[in-house]
Amino acid sequence: MEKRALGLPSKLAEVKYEIRGRVLLEAEKCAANGTDILPLHIGNPGPFGFEPPAEVLKATKEAVTASLSYSDSRGLKTLVHKVQERLQNQGSPEVPFDHIYIGNGVSELIMMACQCAFSRGDEVLVPAPDYPLWTAAIKLTGATPVYYLCDEAEDWQPSLSDLRSKVNDKTKAIVLINPNNPTGAVYSDTALTELAKFVSENNLLAFSDEIYSQILFDDAQFYPFAKVLNQVDPRAICLSFDGLSKNGFAAGYRCGWMTLTGDLSESRGFLDGLNMLSALRLCPNVLAMHSAIAFLNTSASGRLEDATMQRLIQQRAALCDGLRQIEHLSFVEPKGAFYVFPRIDLKKTAFATDEDFAIKLVQDFGILTVPGSAFNSFDEEHVRLVFLPRTDLLQTVCRNLNSLLSSTDTGHTKAEKRPSIA
Ligand SMILES: Cc1ncc(COP(=O)(O)O)c(C=O)c1O
Repeated sequence: MEKRALGLPSKLAEVKYEIRGRVLLEAEKCAANGTDILPLHIGNPGPFGFEPPAEVLKATKEAVTASLSYSDSRGLKTLVHKVQERLQNQGSPEVPFDHIYIGNGVSELIMMACQCAFSRGDEVLVPAPDYPLWTAAIKLTGATPVYYLCDEAEDWQPSLSDLRSKVNDKTKAIVLINPNNPTGAVYSDTALTELAKFVSENNLLAFSDEIYSQILFDDAQFYPFAKVLNQVDPRAICLSFDGLSKNGFAAGYRCGWMTLTGDLSESRGFLDGLNMLSALRLCPNVLAMHSAIAFLNTSASGRLEDATMQRLIQQRAALCDGLRQIEHLSFVEPKGAFYVFPRIDLKKTAFATDEDFAIKLVQDFGILTVPGSAFNSFDEEHVRLVFLPRTDLLQTVCRNLNSLLSSTDTGHTKAEKRPSIA
């Protein structure tokens, strides 16, 4: 008998996660040949020495034994109450206890929510550029992501005219990412109100990914979309996502929460689906839920710890100052999260696409980034940089980018020695 061979199931054929794609494969090859790789491809604060508040680490250590058993499949009740309190502090509409779901990271909740909300034939408005998990989660349900423009010329704000041109009777929902990954944009109260009117007029579900809500710079303010939408149309349904990975600097703990607002009285099927998927995965990681309780106790003000914020402010300034010196590159200064999404004027360089550029960056300098095309950008002219490394390392990164962009051919550019990562 012939040995069974495994192919890719057809339901996965359309699904991609290029953040861990071709450029990463090249980085792995370079690492195998001895190159020291700087991981600027994911927003993972841990390797750069960021830690959650001390109270979170202490509570996690203390909860090791208390976390041995499964919890209720929806999560620990104390955590659900803490999430309720956080929403109240943010001025969000009141959320009933059973409209809060805890997950093993926001990623799991995004997958679950999309499975329960969408079917083949549905269309979902997704920002371009997006965080590609959204695209993947929607495609896995058989629904179709339809990209709307976040306009670089307008500081990456969502374009309402583009949204209006893309909505039709198959459109079921819109995804917002605010503060935004990869662009660093933070949406104003006015912009969100316009989006809320659009949601209400078109009877859409809103999915608001707010995982960077506490990472804000200059005068940027975060407005929960659930709150804004509630003011425009209290019945409109909003699913909001937040968690420990970014605001809590504990991405490896895998803990997130999803809250449902609006009138769900006729959405029993959707809620039954969520309860079933919650039960099928048994429960969220119990130890991480104890960490999340401690995090929500310490971050009641909604602000990051001063030292963490100061560090991010300095690193953002170092990266932006460095990027300003580079020819053939322009960018919008980020107002939130920890990414910059510069445009590279590729026509003036030796590179055909952003992916070619990212591959060369990893080959010559060991700097691992993600090309804009991996975020379903409308063009292939961007690269996402992460400003989690210390300032001296970011300055070296900028000098390396400069040498690569000022070299007129794709021959090997000589790397200088880099400061260490932590
Ligand atoms: C916009 C956005 N949403 C969701 C996630 C996934 O979050 P989690 O670590 O909670 O699964 C990320 C991770 O980078 C993200 O950037």
